[in-house]
Amino acid sequence: MIKRDGALPSLWQQTVEPLEVTNTALAAKYDVIIVGGGITGISLAHRLQNAGLQCLVLEAHNCCFGTTGGTTAHLNTLLDTPYSTIIKNFGEEPAKLVAKGVKEAIHNIERNIEQYQIECGFERTAAYLFAENDDQQKELQEIVEACEKVSVPVHYTGTIPVNIPFTKAIEIPAQAKFSPVKYVYELAKNYMDAGGHIVEQTVVVNHNHRTDEVTGEEIIEVQTEDDYTYVTNTLVYATHIPPGVNVLHLRCAPYRSYAMAVKLPLDNYPAELCYDMYDPYRYYRTQVIEGEPYFIVGGEDHKTGHEDNTEACFNRLLANVRKYFNVESITHKWSSQYYEPADGLPYIGELPGARPNVYVATGYGGNGMVYSQVATILLSDLILTGASTYKELFDPNRIKPIAGFTNLIKENADVVKNLVSGLVARSHLESLSELAHGEGKVVVFEKHKIALYKDPEGSLHVLNPTCTHLKCSVAWNAAELSWDCPCHGARYSIDGEMLNGPANMDLKKIDLQEE
Ligand code: FES
Repeated sequence: MIKRDGALPSLWQQTVEPLEVTNTALAAKYDVIIVGGGITGISLAHRLQNAGLQCLVLEAHNCCFGTTGGTTAHLNTLLDTPYSTIIKNFGEEPAKLVAKGVKEAIHNIERNIEQYQIECGFERTAAYLFAENDDQQKELQEIVEACEKVSVPVHYTGTIPVNIPFTKAIEIPAQAKFSPVKYVYELAKNYMDAGGHIVEQTVVVNHNHRTDEVTGEEIIEVQTEDDYTYVTNTLVYATHIPPGVNVLHLRCAPYRSYAMAVKLPLDNYPAELCYDMYDPYRYYRTQVIEGEPYFIVGGEDHKTGHEDNTEACFNRLLANVRKYFNVESITHKWSSQYYEPADGLPYIGELPGARPNVYVATGYGGNGMVYSQVATILLSDLILTGASTYKELFDPNRIKPIAGFTNLIKENADVVKNLVSGLVARSHLESLSELAHGEGKVVVFEKHKIALYKDPEGSLHVLNPTCTHLKCSVAWNAAELSWDCPCHGARYSIDGEMLNGPANMDLKKIDLQEE
């Protein structure tokens, strides 16, 4: 089983063999270094390497450790941000370009699968979006009208493939599904066969530009946590959210989403993709892995670090799936993270505030699989030719002063000031922390906050709860046994190890003083 950024194993991590990577960076200088070995990083590296550039992927953990290992892998042209909203925020022609981009994105995956004969359960199938009340019906009609404007084919239908009561529904043909980690790992093997390099377990902490004394060209030095420096002409942050401090942290809000894979009676597995219209919405689909069908349901999204009882999210999801399906068993349950952009579209292109040749891809919302491919197409065109049809549309430097933006700023105001470091007496903590085994909590101790977790054996794990990114206080995530930052979504293990950026350092441990 491969590792992922949470305690709960996803369906994908348990059904792939670990990837054997080169783990060496042989070139003195790379044409392109990509930070992040998820679907965006590997897809882009693969495309650029095959176009003749020498690439290196630097991954902080193992490939697909982050959201690629936890997605439910829907490939849609109908997006979470409805085309009606995209038209309102950006205009009709840009919305058409978005529709064209996501259509091309699915084709890109399909073409790779055919060309490299990747067995990852890819299947084209229809999707269904269904309304259950008058308000949703009205919204559905707006979606249909907007889809017509941007040439995404949809039509009303009288039936849906799941046994959930509905009032109106639409069918969207030619969507798709697949096993994401299998796909990425096969693509990564092909990339390495083409001469590409991957180094895992390497945290990038910084980059800077300098002029090469011999050639006079500007080069980028990429520094890692263990003081190693890699040199490149071009740098791409495909880390889900860029590390460091960037305006994009104010334009993206981190969310958690919950998923389960369950077994149903054999003739009950729907072949198609289905979505209800609640906020947050629930999503349903089947994936067959090595002959075994799994019914995957997802939803119950919330802002990262803003839900006190993350286990309850699974309970609500299970109650929903049990209401409509004859669940025989639950094989997997897991959660994962995504970043909601302020204006509804991702940020793909030049990293704001950086000098030339540093790129970023982030803010995919719930459509990470298709936007990873839009990023691959856009960034490879920019790097290879200096131009892309999509450059302006997804420009991370755009400013759209729209309603959601202010709210996102407010979400980022969760900063705490009182912090603690150094030694704490064990007896004090144990008397103060009435924690059950397996429970975590941020407690106040002598006017300072401390993050405490009591493991199943009763040992205390004590951390400074100050996020190493921009000093917000982390919150306990009981479902994934992690400390999650509500500000920009950094996450840490029970011992403080950094699981997700934008932080690039671990939480500080607090030593217990024996008396
Ligand atoms: Fe930015 Fe924690 S992720 S302060």
